[in-house]
Amino acid sequence: MSKRASKSRIADYFRSVYQSHPAVITRAPGRIEFIGNHTDYNGGLVAGAAIDRSILVAAGIRTDRILRFASEFSTGTASCELDAIRKIEGKGRWANYPLGVYTELAERGLRPDAGFNLAIMSDLPSGAGLSSSAALELSTALAIGTLYGMTLSRADLVQIGRSAENKFLGVPTGPLDQSVCAHGRENHLVFIDCRTLEADLVPVPPECRIRIFNTGTKHSLLDSLYSKRHSECSEVLRIIRKMHPEIEYLTDAKESFLDELGGNAPEEVVKCARHVIRENERVRATREALNRGDIERTGKLMHESHESSRTLFENSCPELDTLSDLLNAHPRVHGARLSGGGFGGAAIALTSEAFGDDDATAIREEYRKAYNHFPDTLACAITDGAEVLQK
Ligand code: GLA
Repeated sequence: MSKRASKSRIADYFRSVYQSHPAVITRAPGRIEFIGNHTDYNGGLVAGAAIDRSILVAAGIRTDRILRFASEFSTGTASCELDAIRKIEGKGRWANYPLGVYTELAERGLRPDAGFNLAIMSDLPSGAGLSSSAALELSTALAIGTLYGMTLSRADLVQIGRSAENKFLGVPTGPLDQSVCAHGRENHLVFIDCRTLEADLVPVPPECRIRIFNTGTKHSLLDSLYSKRHSECSEVLRIIRKMHPEIEYLTDAKESFLDELGGNAPEEVVKCARHVIRENERVRATREALNRGDIERTGKLMHESHESSRTLFENSCPELDTLSDLLNAHPRVHGARLSGGGFGGAAIALTSEAFGDDDATAIREEYRKAYNHFPDTLACAITDGAEVLQK
């Protein structure tokens, strides 16, 4: 990504598209999933962090009843009638995220007299598993809410973004992305209990850094593979509940329940369940390790999480495995793992302060030998969550 998104750049962009000044500017960050893989929609625990790569939205009210969307990362604008919201097909499809958010706000009582102009700018790589969708949803929700004087709490932002994604976009994601995007805090990890949606902040040890390596690969069936794993988790839960009806979520189950299933459940769904149950315990253990300042243990848990994705949940890929192997063997890396849904995207590493650009270059070179292209790398800072920059 060449240029950083900034308040002045997006104000200029808004003026160039709409020949007027924006009334509101908002920002929402991307996120890393630190640990807690596919635990969120299974009622479990997860930890993430907001990163210093964001989506900015500038907004202004129009005089007619049109909603207009322009994005620096896509050519052309998209538009829709305020009174006839419909899903957009083709090139302007990205506008379905802000449209989904608008629909959620309308369901909560927003009845504007006039439409809006929206301009979007990003320095967050999309398709890297860094949750550009949640960043777009939350920056839009804050912008539209602020524009029409609707007060939204962080909890509202989480619900609006997630519902937009689940209902309007039809992707059955859990609350991880929106929760981290809403609750993020500088130099802190956000631990989320996905049942209550409570978020707790735990400081990142000051001597540690986060590095992202983006494989640049994305499985063409990404959304359907994600949905497949989601259904497999529901399927195994249904089977376990026949013996343990008290279980509400998969993360309530004990591993011993899986051994009781015998041949009553397909092996692949049992493996998924094993991953989710163990991963949930790893999030708990990570929190305890961080609380006692045990960075080595934290790193080991990250490595174990990746191995579990590789062998049990099978949501890794050769490129991510290579990065995990290279990083986890590195003396200045505490631990590394794939981050997010998997099947491509990015790996993250918790490194020591001493891990520098030369180290990253050496890893990229090793990776290139295997795949003939370099992974992008990003030394990222951990930042605050979604915010209004101007109103
Ligand atoms: C994606 C989803 C999240 C979560 C992760 C896997 O990032 O958007 O809700 O399920 O995958 O942990």
